[in-house]
Amino acid sequence: MALACIAIILGLAHLLTAKSLDCEPLVPEILDNATMTKLLGKWFYIAGASQHPRTLQEMELIKNAYYFLYPSSHQDKFLVTQVMRLKDKCVVDNSSYISVIQDNSTMILHGPNESSVGQLIKSSSEDTMTLYHIDGTHRGLSISARAQNFSTEQLEEFKTQVACLGLKEEETFYTSAKDLCPMEEERDDKKQLVEVVEPSLG
Ligand SMILES: *[C@@H]1O[C@H](CO)[C@@H](O)[C@H](O)[C@H]1NC(C)=O
Ligand SMILES: *[C@@H]1O[C@H](CO)[C@@H](O)[C@H](O)[C@H]1NC(C)=O
Ligand SMILES: *[C@@H]1O[C@H](CO)[C@@H](O)[C@H](O)[C@H]1NC(C)=O
Ligand SMILES: *[C@@H]1O[C@H](CO)[C@@H](O)[C@H](O)[C@H]1NC(C)=O
Ligand SMILES: *[C@@H]1O[C@H](CO)[C@@H](O)[C@H](O)[C@H]1NC(C)=O
Repeated sequence: MALACIAIILGLAHLLTAKSLDCEPLVPEILDNATMTKLLGKWFYIAGASQHPRTLQEMELIKNAYYFLYPSSHQDKFLVTQVMRLKDKCVVDNSSYISVIQDNSTMILHGPNESSVGQLIKSSSEDTMTLYHIDGTHRGLSISARAQNFSTEQLEEFKTQVACLGLKEEETFYTSAKDLCPMEEERDDKKQLVEVVEPSLG
């Protein structure tokens, strides 16, 4: 009897939590010229979730990251500069680009080491960029924002989308706003170079 009660309560609790998840389908954002123009400029990578083991490993390494989308001479292409803190190392990459397939709102990042594909998803704010990733049967979601001070509402929206996709908390990684890498990585090198060169001049 007691067991049955517990089972019923647990069952209800399960239903309640399932119900409280307000799942709305992910709707692709129309990726036309106007949208592409809106995407230009600086973005902070905020969080990512993935079922893909390799992607998970990579996400875990990213302490934080920001990037810039620049227009290119091609209508369907962005140039990209990314500045990332990978574990305790700063990586500046300006050799990547994103090709865009407007027909299905797809963006393909051609990185220095590999490429990744994402579909631009409608979000409640123009200040966030949500990408839905499918890699075989593995799903993922990543979110970037115009500012690092991501609001609680934005965070809740992302968490709900992640849960609705069936992704788990432990498959989600959040970046830290601390210790952003500088864009000019070579500054210290130059200083060192001057210090090294000067004595040899005298
Ligand atoms: C988008 O912009 C390109 C040039 O950048 C132009 O050739 C093309 O016609 C534009 N497309 C639309 C639908 O306006
Ligand atoms: C990338 O950065 C390097 C070093 O700062 C610079 O020499 C190069 O011109 C840059 N490339 C692009 C495409 O901006
Ligand atoms: C988008 O379209 C391209 C080219 O038609 C195709 O290769 C790709 O699989 C499509 N992606 C999605 C998510 O439908
Ligand atoms: C690409 O791979 C090299 C070698 O593993 C690594 O040092 C570099 O940080 C990677 N670049 C990016 C942008 O992930
Ligand atoms: C982030 O901070 C800026 C300026 O400090 C402010 O204008 C903006 O509303 C804040 N955004 C959020 C989502 O809190």
